[in-house]
Amino acid sequence: MEKTIKNVQDLYEMLDAEFRSAKQFWEPFYEDRDRPIPFFPNKPDENLVEQVNSGLLTGGKAMELGCGPGRNALYLTQAGYSVDAYDLSETAIAWAKERAAEVQLDVNFECRSVFELEPQQEYDLVYDSGCLHHLLPHQRIPYIQMITNALKPGGYFGMTCFAPGFGGLGGPETVMNDWEVYQERSMKGGLAFTEEKLRYLLEDPFECVELRPMQAMGKGDDRFGLPILWVTLWRKPLTDKKKGD
Ligand SMILES: C[S@@+](CC[C@H](N)C(=O)[O-])C[C@H]1O[C@@H](n2cnc3c(N)ncnc32)[C@H](O)[C@@H]1O
Repeated sequence: MEKTIKNVQDLYEMLDAEFRSAKQFWEPFYEDRDRPIPFFPNKPDENLVEQVNSGLLTGGKAMELGCGPGRNALYLTQAGYSVDAYDLSETAIAWAKERAAEVQLDVNFECRSVFELEPQQEYDLVYDSGCLHHLLPHQRIPYIQMITNALKPGGYFGMTCFAPGFGGLGGPETVMNDWEVYQERSMKGGLAFTEEKLRYLLEDPFECVELRPMQAMGKGDDRFGLPILWVTLWRKPLTDKKKGD
């Protein structure tokens, strides 16, 4: 029954309806490929390259969430992963498919919302570069649950997101707590996370492997790196933490 709140899903829908649609924002975002957006060049995140080169990430099956034009999905494929990569924006996915065709890489790029996905213990790696910090606070609940379900025991969740204190340098101008997002009905361009907040959100269900500022990379580097972002890597425990208590 429309506009009746019986369950958590109804509550999420009510909260979503208070904000602009993410698809409306992201669809035109990729139309002009020449805009000076830092993550438009086809370069993988510096942390991902380091984790592959160090032997921490060794291949298998990977899923990228909010993949945009596919720079990290393409890199992971070259690094030996079989990759499913999803984004809300048709325009971004079309660009990603063109990039894959240019170098004859086989990547499963699909235009889908992360909230439509229901994978079960399929992936060795789930990667998110800049998607979570654009999700509304309540959307993190099904998002993190979906990622937990998607990973095999011992699988990794890699993520980059805004750090606080970089307003004017490309990060959010304001650091908002989650309640303020609903009071102001806006995320003001994306949410910045303190280290404490990231640990609070992710230490249950995951174990922290790495959490550090991203290294700065220049235009001439073949990797992407902006120090306004955190770099994080988490591992799903081999056994369910709660059952092991
Ligand atoms: C900051 S961009 C990062 C793009 C890409 N990961 C990169 O770093 O090049 C965030 C991306 O998340 C996508 N996104 C936001 N909400 C999403 C959702 N619910 N489902 C799938 N993708 C989403 C947007 O379309 C956008 O491409």
